[in-house]
Amino acid sequence: MGRFFFNKQLNVNNAIEVNLNIEKLKELEIIKKSYIWGTNKDIFQSDKFSSIKPNWGGDMEWISSNNMNTYNMFLKGFESLGLDKLLKDIIECENQLRLYAGFFLKRSSSKKNFHVDWNGRLKNNAFTLLTPLYQEEDALHLLFKDIAGEECKYKYEIGKGILFGSDFSHSTESGKSSSSSILLCFQFGTDLPTYNRGIQDAMGTQTPFMILPDGRSIAHKGMIQDGMTYSVPLGINDLKF
Ligand SMILES: [Fe+2]
Repeated sequence: MGRFFFNKQLNVNNAIEVNLNIEKLKELEIIKKSYIWGTNKDIFQSDKFSSIKPNWGGDMEWISSNNMNTYNMFLKGFESLGLDKLLKDIIECENQLRLYAGFFLKRSSSKKNFHVDWNGRLKNNAFTLLTPLYQEEDALHLLFKDIAGEECKYKYEIGKGILFGSDFSHSTESGKSSSSSILLCFQFGTDLPTYNRGIQDAMGTQTPFMILPDGRSIAHKGMIQDGMTYSVPLGINDLKF
């Protein structure tokens, strides 16, 4: 069973801030081939990715792999961060942490939309990492509810990431910034097959391509073949990021 934990600094359960090496991030293949560092200018081959635009307000795009090769580039980046050491006593695994999907998040505007990525039934066995790659002074940050239910703000900082698991209620801050921010996101966790259904349900329609805890890939064929940009109508339980 995964382990729940309390973070005194943020006064919240199941979330922690981590330091990431900026020089290492810059050199990751997935980042080098996707953005000019220090800008929000994308240089990726768009046919290797899918862009999904949730339609709850704002211009958020979830940009994720649509094939195994691109997934593997995200995977290399994920593995180089060494999160397995940090989370080995929290996430229950048979052999290894599993990356379900990697994303770039791009947005300059958003509405408030509180949700959890991972519910309590997943027992803190799945996590989201968010770290900014580019943001301006007036960037939108992350809101979360602490254990008292108070709305708090977590400010994204280049070289730092926030990791959160079950029952972490959060939202992108509402508003509009002068230019798009780019965040790197990894969704990952247990490799135990018993969580296949729960993970797939939790990730919903965020990406047309993902890997399940047991290592099998799931491809929503229609979403991949019909073009590269989608507007996804979301139910209240599907609202993400
Ligand atoms: Fe989220």
